[in-house]
Amino acid sequence: MKDVGGSLDIADAGQVFLRLAHGLAAAVWVGGGAYYLLAVRPNIRSRNDEASRALGVEVQREFGEWAAVATIVMIASGVILMFERLSGGQGTTVYVALLAIKVLAAVAAFWMTGVLRPSRGISRRRRTGKLDTAWLVLGLSIAAFLIGALLTTLYPADIG
Ligand code: HEM
Repeated sequence: MKDVGGSLDIADAGQVFLRLAHGLAAAVWVGGGAYYLLAVRPNIRSRNDEASRALGVEVQREFGEWAAVATIVMIASGVILMFERLSGGQGTTVYVALLAIKVLAAVAAFWMTGVLRPSRGISRRRRTGKLDTAWLVLGLSIAAFLIGALLTTLYPADIG
């Protein structure tokens, strides 16, 4: 809710906190995927030895634990932001349609990595036919990121 003096009330501060949490978790998710694809995997492939491959698996397992936390933060904060927006009467058809595409892209990315399946962490990325799963996951995550940024630009939060 807007305050005449431009100050934040508790509900506004909560919104800022949720957006920070969502954005930070998104940065961990997309950044981790890009780092793996652009730096870690090409190095492992060019070395092409057992020790490097084992390191790659271990690095992905370790990062998978952080990615799982980021995923839970992203879903929890995203769902609350969504309900705040919809209950605030700002859920136009375009908003809901873009959000639905965004959530589908995000859920597909989560599902493909297996990040939320207990004990598995991030599964080893495989090439299935011509499709490179790791690039597909990064592409879907970037799509979710872009639509998120688009939504906040098209429908700026009424705070501050
Ligand atoms: C790969 C997964 C995801 C990424 C990379 C991502 C990224 C982003 C980004 C960058 C924003 C803009 C943040 C801001 O400027 O405040 C955003 C907003 C948002 N995201 Fe996500 N997100 C993901 C998953 C989800 C999920 C699973 C939901 C579940 C409902 C969700 C719901 C939302 C909502 C409601 C907003 C706010 C839009 C608004 O301003 O009304 N996101 N997201």
